[in-house]
Amino acid sequence: MLTFGDLKLKNGLIMAPMSGITNLPFRRIVKRMGAGLVTTEMISAMGLVLGKKKTQDYLLSTPDERPLAVQLFGSGPEVLAEAAEIAVEAGADLIDLNMGCPARKVVKTGAGGALLREPRKIKEIVTLVRKHCSVPLTIKIRSGWSPTLNTGEEAALVAADSGVDAVTVHPRFVSQGFSGHADWQVIARIKEQLKIPVIGNGDVFRPALAGKLKDQTGCDGVMIGRAAVGNPWIFRQILALEKGVVALPPSLDERRAIIREHFHLLTLLMGESRAAKKMRGLLLSYTKGLPNSRSFRGAFTGILNSESLVAALDRYFATLEIPLHAEKTEP
Ligand SMILES: Cc1cc2nc3c(=O)[nH]c(=O)nc-3n(C[C@H](O)[C@H](O)[C@H](O)COP(=O)(O)O)c2cc1C
Repeated sequence: MLTFGDLKLKNGLIMAPMSGITNLPFRRIVKRMGAGLVTTEMISAMGLVLGKKKTQDYLLSTPDERPLAVQLFGSGPEVLAEAAEIAVEAGADLIDLNMGCPARKVVKTGAGGALLREPRKIKEIVTLVRKHCSVPLTIKIRSGWSPTLNTGEEAALVAADSGVDAVTVHPRFVSQGFSGHADWQVIARIKEQLKIPVIGNGDVFRPALAGKLKDQTGCDGVMIGRAAVGNPWIFRQILALEKGVVALPPSLDERRAIIREHFHLLTLLMGESRAAKKMRGLLLSYTKGLPNSRSFRGAFTGILNSESLVAALDRYFATLEIPLHAEKTEP
């Protein structure tokens, strides 16, 4: 069983923090699909400290998704420490600090991946946040800033010494963005050196790769990001594989029901028109690889409310069902 401090998870599969994706509706679905822990999008520590309503809304949660990891980004130890207190007060079961984000607008403030240029600052941040944070504390890092500023291992060691309960490693350099591939050997090297749990992350695109990542690195848990978008049942499939059961994809009916539920939950959170806009992007992921998905994609622009979404969805799924029924009735 994976344990962070005194927080015991039901399994070692973690939904990655993903800006624009891991909002409350998505987290609730992924949790039901078997994730042991779900994580918020990265949340601005400064926004929380300044009491900005939009930032506070990222902390909205429901009991069914717990335990909940809240990820914070920022560069000042005091601001991060105060934000951690606010997040815990709002119900966070774990605080994760973002030390890997490559986005320019984050890095230029000294936050996210920029922290990997300054391991000493990581020590200051973790030491202070640890003092103010009454729940388990983790960090999420990359391999380093760049191949010539290869600081990931040092950052992990410094953070472990300063009191974090676990380290998640996405083994690309900040300078790489999402190009190239995740170098799992970096995870293995960090795992060898730390006594606390190490979570492996990066390029687990199919259920079978989760076990492979664990075998190759010895990591204690696996974090899944992109592969869960439009494909939240990947957690259920990985858990099935761990038990030696074939990891079947969901039926068409279940798939359609999940898409509808996702839209419904988004509508409750942000209103129908914003939810419809958001759902258009997600539908691309939900229908990726299905027959005729391209023609369905053409109909997305017409989706403005739940009525048009359900109608377009039903029309598309009807085209998928016909060949299956036809097959059954043929002699
Ligand atoms: C759209 C998108 C948003 C992301 N947002 C965050 C974020 O808010 N915080 C973070 O630490 N990582 C973020 N990431 C990185 C993921 O958490 C993860 O580390 C990365 O995608 C590698 O894992 P994967 O190969 O399983 O996707 C984001 C990635 C993507 C594609």
